[in-house]
Amino acid sequence: MKEFKFPKGFYFGGATAAYQCEGATKEDGKGEVIWDKYLREQGTINPDPACDFYHRYPEDLELCKEFHINAIRVSIDWARIFPEGEGRIEPRGVEYYHKLFKKCHEEGVEPFVTLHHFDTPQALQDKGGWLSQEMLDAFVEYAKFCFKEYAGEVRYWITINEPTSMAGQQYVGGTFPPAYKDQFDKCFKAEYNQNLVHARIVNAYKEAGYTGQIGIVHALQTVYPATDSEGDKHAAELKDVLENKFYLDGTLAGKYSKHTLALVKEIIDANGQQMIDIKPEDEKVLLKAAKQLDFVGVNYYFSKFMKEYHGDTEIIHNGTGEKGTDVNRMKGVGEEIHPKDLPATDWDWIIYPQGMYDQLKRVYDDYPLVHSIYITENGMGYKDKFEGEDKIIDDTPRIDYLKQHMEEVAKAIEAGIPVNGYFVWSLQDMFSWTNGYSKRYGLFYVDFKTQKRYAKKSAYWYKKLAETREIPP
Ligand code: NOJ
Repeated sequence: MKEFKFPKGFYFGGATAAYQCEGATKEDGKGEVIWDKYLREQGTINPDPACDFYHRYPEDLELCKEFHINAIRVSIDWARIFPEGEGRIEPRGVEYYHKLFKKCHEEGVEPFVTLHHFDTPQALQDKGGWLSQEMLDAFVEYAKFCFKEYAGEVRYWITINEPTSMAGQQYVGGTFPPAYKDQFDKCFKAEYNQNLVHARIVNAYKEAGYTGQIGIVHALQTVYPATDSEGDKHAAELKDVLENKFYLDGTLAGKYSKHTLALVKEIIDANGQQMIDIKPEDEKVLLKAAKQLDFVGVNYYFSKFMKEYHGDTEIIHNGTGEKGTDVNRMKGVGEEIHPKDLPATDWDWIIYPQGMYDQLKRVYDDYPLVHSIYITENGMGYKDKFEGEDKIIDDTPRIDYLKQHMEEVAKAIEAGIPVNGYFVWSLQDMFSWTNGYSKRYGLFYVDFKTQKRYAKKSAYWYKKLAETREIPP
C-alpha cells in the first residue's frame, strides 16, 4: 500500500496475558485458577515458568522501548489479588502489578489492562463459574478494587478477553476447563452473564468518575457462507450469532435484536435444550453500558466458511488442532469448511486478511454507538526455528501475515473507521493453552530453557513500522 501513514498517537503494541507469560503460578500467595487444576490433571503441559514474565517484565518492557513498541496488553491474574476469587486480599499480588505498571510508564509503554483473560479462580469455578451469581458479583468487586487501587496507573481497562472463546470452549468445544461439549444452552447462558457482568463493571467504572477508558475485547472471526445457497447462508448466520453477534448486540448495542434471539433459539432447540431467559431489566443495564463504552477491542486471526450440515455429529475441535486434524461441525449450526484456494497456518487457521477489514466495517456500520476500535490481537502461530545465537530467526511468513493484516487496518482507517491502535499477538513467545509451547507467536523468541529473549526478523520489521508509521515492504 502506497503513501499511507498511521496517524500520530496510534498505538503499536504487543499483547500478553498473565497466565500465558507470568509463570510463578505458586508464588507470593497466588490462588489456584482453572488452568492450574486442568493442566495438572492432564499432566502434559507445565504452565511454569512460561516465559517468566513475573520476574522478567523489566527486560521485556525495555525491549518494547528499544523496538518502539509504545503499548502493551497485560492482564491481571485475579487469583494473585484475591486467591479465593473473593474476600481475602493478597498484598504481594497487589504490589506486583504496581511494580509492573510503574515499569511500563518508566519505559513509555502504555498498559492496556485486562481483568479477565481466561483465568477464572478455581474457587469461583467450583461455584459454577460464569453460570453462578456469586462469580458475577465477585467479578464486579474485584474490578472495583482494581480501578481504585491502580487509578492513575492504568488509563485503559478491558473487562473480559474473548468471552466467546471462554464460553464456547467451556461449554461447546470442550477445550477449556471444565471442558463440557455441546451444551449450547449453558454456553448462551454464560454469554448472557458475561455481557451483563461486563456492563455492570463498565457502569461502576463510569459512576465512580474515573477519567480513563474502558472497553471489552472480542474475538471476531468473520463468518462467510461457503456458497450462495440459502442453507449455507443460514449456517453462516447461525455460526456468527453463536460466536460474534450475541456478544456484539449485548455489549455494543445494549440490546439483543429479535433476529439474534430467534437464531439463538433455533440453535438451542436443535440441540433439544432449554432457551435462556432474557430479562428486560438486564437490557437496561446493557444499554447504559453500551452508551458509555469507550472502545471495543477486536482480536482477529482467521475467517470461517460455513456449509449447511444436517448430521448429528458433535463438535470436534475448534480451530485448535494441528494441520489436517480439524473437523468442525455443530448440530443446529453447520459445518466449517476450508476453501481449497486459501492458505492456512500450521494450526489450520485460514489466512484471510480481508476478513479483518470486513469485520471492522461490520462493527462500525452495524453498531452506531461504537466510536473507537483497537485491534487488540492479531498474529501468526508458527514453529520458529532457532539456529544459533548469531543468526536472526527468520520468520518471514509471520511478517507476510502481519503486513497483509496491517494493510487491511490501513484500508479501514482510510475508509473512516476509527482504529486507534494495533497489538501483535504476542509480544514474546509464551505458552498457548492446550497447544503448549510449540505454537509460537512472539516478536521475540524465548528459549524456554534459559529464558533468554532473541528478536526475530518480525521484531525488526515491526520496529520499522512503529518508527515510521508506514508499513515496511
Ligand atoms: C486469543 C487469546 O486471547 C490468547 O490467549 C491466545 O493465546 C491467542 N488467541 C492465540 O490463540
